[in-house]
Amino acid sequence: MTKYILAPSIVSADHLRLKDEIALCEANGANWFHVDVMDGHFAPNITFGPFLVETYKRATKLPLDVHLMIEKPERYISAFAKAGADILTVHVEACADINTIVDQIKSVGCKAGVAINPETPISSVETIFPIVDLVLVMSVRPGFSGQVFMPETVSKVVEARKRLDEINSQAYLEVDGGISTKTLHLMKNAGANVFVAASAIFNHSAGTEAGLKEMRTAVLA
Ligand code: DX5
Ligand code: ZN
Repeated sequence: MTKYILAPSIVSADHLRLKDEIALCEANGANWFHVDVMDGHFAPNITFGPFLVETYKRATKLPLDVHLMIEKPERYISAFAKAGADILTVHVEACADINTIVDQIKSVGCKAGVAINPETPISSVETIFPIVDLVLVMSVRPGFSGQVFMPETVSKVVEARKRLDEINSQAYLEVDGGISTKTLHLMKNAGANVFVAASAIFNHSAGTEAGLKEMRTAVLA
């Protein structure tokens, strides 16, 4: 049976009430926390560094799924690992030598993920599928939460699922960007098993608990 993972993206949590936000997610079925790291270069926004990852680590026992939307991520792998990242995902578009960076991530004891932007084809990353623990197909362009889901990325998830199954890979297939109760089923049917959501959870009109519960129901439907 496929295990489905719901990973609230902490970027949209109310950081003045962070402990409560995290506790609400934990109590209502979150599986991981997703941490969107942006450097103002690879992505047109600036968010968190290792300092805040270390803070999040002290606030939860759930795995921290750290999504590095940064140039030359090799410079910061060991800092994020020390801060408590469990999974480190790098963008193929930001890496000169993706194989070496995946090895580096594993050597510091983290699970290694590879992410691709909406415009990047699966063919540009499938050669490293045998060595990664997670594949992240972006369904918006990196930068901001609350963007509109790009339906043209669904077929990329279908293709990634096919390639992973062909090699009997147990890697997670994660989707991120515009995932809501309206779009989640498209990605689930396409073969994704990890669902990241920021605004659908933390900006829900009835609050974080309602947002989490609705998304959890959609994941399990
Ligand atoms: C996009 C980030 C996403 C984003 C998700 O740059 O990688 O994780 O914050 O936000 P929503 O779920 O609101 O699209
Ligand atoms: Zn992300």
